[in-house]
Amino acid sequence: MKIAVLTSGGDSAGMNAVVRAVVRGGILKGCQVWVVREGYEGLVRGNTEAPEPEPAPPAFPDLPPETDGDINLIHNLRFGDGQLLRDGTGDYISGRTLKGRYIVRVGWDDVRGWFSEGGTLIGSARSKAFRTPEGRLAAAYNLIKEGIDALVVCGGDGSLTGADIFRAEWPNLVAKLLSESIITKEQATAHTHLKIVGLVGSIDNDMSMTDLTIGAVTALHRICEAIDNINSTAASHSRAFVLEVMGRHCGWLALLAGVSGGADFIFIPERPPDTESWEDEMCECIQRHREVGKRKTIVIVAEGALDKFLNPIKADYVKDVLTERLGLDTRVTTLGHTQRGGRPCAFDRILPTIQGVEAVQALMEATPDTPSYMIGIQENKITRVPLVDAVAMTRSVADAIEAKEFDKAMSLRDPEFRE
Ligand code: F6P
Repeated sequence: MKIAVLTSGGDSAGMNAVVRAVVRGGILKGCQVWVVREGYEGLVRGNTEAPEPEPAPPAFPDLPPETDGDINLIHNLRFGDGQLLRDGTGDYISGRTLKGRYIVRVGWDDVRGWFSEGGTLIGSARSKAFRTPEGRLAAAYNLIKEGIDALVVCGGDGSLTGADIFRAEWPNLVAKLLSESIITKEQATAHTHLKIVGLVGSIDNDMSMTDLTIGAVTALHRICEAIDNINSTAASHSRAFVLEVMGRHCGWLALLAGVSGGADFIFIPERPPDTESWEDEMCECIQRHREVGKRKTIVIVAEGALDKFLNPIKADYVKDVLTERLGLDTRVTTLGHTQRGGRPCAFDRILPTIQGVEAVQALMEATPDTPSYMIGIQENKITRVPLVDAVAMTRSVADAIEAKEFDKAMSLRDPEFRE
């Protein structure tokens, strides 16, 4: 089997571990593996330069690491300045230039040490071209041209929705390429079916049918650390801090950061304040905390937080309320992309490694009759769920929030949810 792996959408810690696991898991199972640079954009652009040489043979298990001198040299050069694939003179994987090549065959050593690196070393993009039928046709052609018959996509709900559309369209795309004589009959016959598996890489933890997305726990650690730092300065000056955290339309990061950092008040999209005047409720609560001796106040606002009428609740407005009503010396801290970047925590190395191996296994077992799977984790077990169902259920959560059906939204995300 010939597998390609790509990362798409907003990066998240652990995406490199996914690529490493798919590359190495695939090679161990006798597959050939490619990486697609720059997400779906790379799939659409494909390769305009001549085919590259074969990747170096694996150093492991044939060669123990101590004896692979040349490979280590490349490894050290490549990792020396921390730039990995981009060193200012061009893009490299194990010394091979990648100019004009977006779909690159990789070997065992190309991904050495990747599991501890932040972001995504093969690049990511939110591709406009892939959202068009022409873009997806080009993407299909580029895969067929390389002989690739299986695709692993690691990204958030938008990226996996894209994967689902691509999978559903595949037979039509192949038929069109054949009818326009862009591919041969032999190529069409060999690519009647594209095997796809999705892995959820997102700091937001907003995908249904999985308990955790890759990168969410690392982002939570970052926020938690930031709260610890803010706590000491806040207590020193007896100040209030309003922290805006990421999560798009999902309040998971905000909620759990609040629990782990001891916040006084939390705003999340899924549970807007019941009262029309949440300002009163918040002020009463914080006043009580101050009266029992708290010298600091922490309010967390999810970036997608909403009030009862579905109007956004903004950190600056919360600050004004605390300042004007309670007389608190208040600051706003927007954590921004510090939440997303940086090295993955241990869990965000373990989860993608196990899920990456499972993704390869799912591709090996796939037949034209089996659905495309999303690899998840539920109740501490790695799961395969139909990608189409996970995408649909995630959409239903967003729809329920828009329709103000908050309990429905919560129970769609978590079937154990009780009001
Ligand atoms: O989906 C991940 C995420 O970091 C969200 O939490 C945030 O809303 C968004 O991406 C920010 O996107 P951008 O990469 O465009 O800054």
